[in-house]
Amino acid sequence: MSNSNLIVLGITGCIAAYKSVELLRLLQKSGFEVQVVLTEHAKEFVTPLTLASLSQKSVITKMFDSDKQINCKETIKIDHIDIAQNATGLIIAPATANCLAKLANGIADDFLSTLFLASSAPTIIAPAMNVQMWNNSIVQENVSKLRSVGVKFIDPEEGYLAEGIEGQGRMANLETILDTSVKAINGDIQDLTEETILVTAGPTCEDLDPVRFLTNRSSGKMGYAIATAAQERGAKTILVSGPTNLPTPPKVSFFQVRSAEEMGCTVLQHFPDSTILIKAAAVGDFKLEEIAKQKIKKKKFSHNITLVPTIDILSELIKHKEQQILVGFAAETEKAHKIGLQKMHDKGLDMIVINDVTQQGAGFDLDTNVVTIISKNGKELSIGRSSKAKIAHTILDQIITFKAETCKN
Ligand SMILES: Cc1cc2nc3c(=O)[nH]c(=O)nc-3n(C[C@H](O)[C@H](O)[C@H](O)COP(=O)(O)O)c2cc1C
Repeated sequence: MSNSNLIVLGITGCIAAYKSVELLRLLQKSGFEVQVVLTEHAKEFVTPLTLASLSQKSVITKMFDSDKQINCKETIKIDHIDIAQNATGLIIAPATANCLAKLANGIADDFLSTLFLASSAPTIIAPAMNVQMWNNSIVQENVSKLRSVGVKFIDPEEGYLAEGIEGQGRMANLETILDTSVKAINGDIQDLTEETILVTAGPTCEDLDPVRFLTNRSSGKMGYAIATAAQERGAKTILVSGPTNLPTPPKVSFFQVRSAEEMGCTVLQHFPDSTILIKAAAVGDFKLEEIAKQKIKKKKFSHNITLVPTIDILSELIKHKEQQILVGFAAETEKAHKIGLQKMHDKGLDMIVINDVTQQGAGFDLDTNVVTIISKNGKELSIGRSSKAKIAHTILDQIITFKAETCKN
């Protein structure tokens, strides 16, 4: 991500485009350098001259600039790539229904839509349109799709619309757009303040005798990253962790456990107060039928080991489930997608995060992961090798989208 203070302000063909002149001033007052990009149709509503004068920069209105002097001895800068790499954020305000459709479907037929695809900077979109257009299921599907890839939406407000009727469609208030954009760009979005998120992490340990135990290779990094992200986004966060070497994330309620049994009891205790449960722990599947009171002698070892299944925490939780969203993990070494999908259905999960731990950059003790997130409403998102922190935020984004869609239906 770029460390510059350059923000791209994309403006599309809406009546509300005139308000973006003021948004430009507000962004400048907040210390940002602003590159304005207008779509061809936006020029019908605001002039490039006004925006160029205020931003003190040429306004980009075309993909191909025929007036540009090209000197082949210099390195040619390809503007949409250059700006995408340098911008710290992309704000599209107002965004038309047409713009949302293009972005959601990867269409890159003008400067703004091409820049969006080329950029990894936080993107904030403030749509504005007629109420019927906003409520149209096709527009809503496009919004969901964009939300699911991490685009931050500032939904239109209710009010008097340009065509003389009341309804939801007015572009959000400029202060809200500014405030949300600055927070998104600084990674400071408080969109989970209404949630209590219970996260499990790490391995469990099943004692064989006073000195030996059965465990697995989970480091806890994925679960800790989720708890950290949830807390940063304003959720009341409860972390139930097996033994790890990780520092406790700040401001989370932390419960240290050892065995699957302990993990199950602690999770069941906090489940009723939670709105979302994310089970990232690698809970052991087997334990010793009876833990030996004394250290098992080497010669007797093989005769004394009878393994039995540990508690199935999820099947216990399902009995107590009310409105909570249940998210599970499936770390597999073969047929990960198929096994994960089956697990989601069999265990009554709302969402599953599948990772094939044999893939490069995925799995235990690494700071990166490669996952596919599937929700029970059929949405699927694959994320290539990325930091566990970034994946944590994407999982939370997916949960928010799932919740918004489920509440609507
Ligand atoms: C007077 C007028 C106002 C419009 N207002 C909106 C609007 O608020 N929201 C919207 O989605 N489209 C609106 N449109 C339609 C868009 O301008 C049209 O879909 C255009 O193709 C959008 O192009 P763009 O997304 O490339 O800017 C309006 C059109 C006209 C003629």
